[in-house]
Amino acid sequence: TDIEKGTYPHYMLKEIDEQPFVIRNIISKYQDENDSIKLDENIRQAVTDADRIYIIAAGTSYHAGLVGKELIEKIAGIPVETHIASEFLYNMPLLSKKPLFIFISQSGETADLRGVLVNVKEQGFKALTITNVPGSTLSREADYTLHTYAGPEIAVASTKAYTAQMAVFAILAVDAARAANVEIDFDPLQELAIVANAMEIFTNKKEEMEQIARDFMSVSRNAFFIGRSMDYHVCLEGALKLKEISYIQAEGFAGGELKHGTIALIEDGTPVIGLATQKNVNLNIRGNMKEVVARGASPCMISMEGWEDEEDTIVLPHVHEYLTPLVSVIPLQLISYYAALHRGCDVDKPRNLAKSVTVE
Ligand code: G6P
Repeated sequence: TDIEKGTYPHYMLKEIDEQPFVIRNIISKYQDENDSIKLDENIRQAVTDADRIYIIAAGTSYHAGLVGKELIEKIAGIPVETHIASEFLYNMPLLSKKPLFIFISQSGETADLRGVLVNVKEQGFKALTITNVPGSTLSREADYTLHTYAGPEIAVASTKAYTAQMAVFAILAVDAARAANVEIDFDPLQELAIVANAMEIFTNKKEEMEQIARDFMSVSRNAFFIGRSMDYHVCLEGALKLKEISYIQAEGFAGGELKHGTIALIEDGTPVIGLATQKNVNLNIRGNMKEVVARGASPCMISMEGWEDEEDTIVLPHVHEYLTPLVSVIPLQLISYYAALHRGCDVDKPRNLAKSVTVE
């Protein structure tokens, strides 16, 4: 398998780099001859028939599901709940009258999800699996499958599967909106092409990302990621990436929530990574960053062109506000990668973790 890695030292770095191509691949797979969305009619029907969608997932896929909820609710106007599979399995919330279940899983084999799938199928509900492995257990046992077309993901820490999952959610949401004649001013295929280019800017800036990892992460025991709305979900993923592979204790927080407890942990030099890609909360998150800096935190602000500040460490090129997670996560993945590398960790095979967890 070393051959597949090519010139890359690790699968993770290779897979981070593949993301622009994965997004372009998704665009081509979900595009018809007229440049409109190509999607199974039955899936469209199942989504538009639902009065509420339940997204079920684990780990990084759960974080993609949090963004998926935002996309479907904002674009298609269908209420969505995203749940951790292992929680949902033993503590099911009250269901709506016509639910649709969406299982989101890179491997399609995660046991926690399978438990829920078996359960909801027994109750006669419809299920759609969004997976990178069609033909996997979750794909075979669900009524419908959507493919994320990311190619095999080998590194335990998920990268390209996450961005691919969010891209598919954007397409699914718009397809449902159009089918229900909801007025929208967002062409996902066009906007995803812009995203792919924006991703490439960061995969070409590895030295800069490595330097940031050195500056912020080389000696720290812990790190915090803060953001609001869409950015908050990416903070959870950024923190997960960092802890999975570098073993730095990291947590993602909603910007406004930090002061309700966790700010007590901020000391001189504690790294706080802030995400500021959302216009409506831009001033709020900047205010939250000031609060931690006043307590000694060392800030790394990641913002987006249009509402950046000259002090920001990283400024993303402008992409549609619905799709910022696909771009803002790239520097976070690279910073985690280099932090792990400099700490001498086994990047592709972190301790105690498995790529696919097929037992409960
Ligand atoms: C494992 C992996 C994670 C992954 C999670 C869910 O814990 O280590 O990287 O996010 O399973 O996997 P799935 O294949 O269902 O997306």
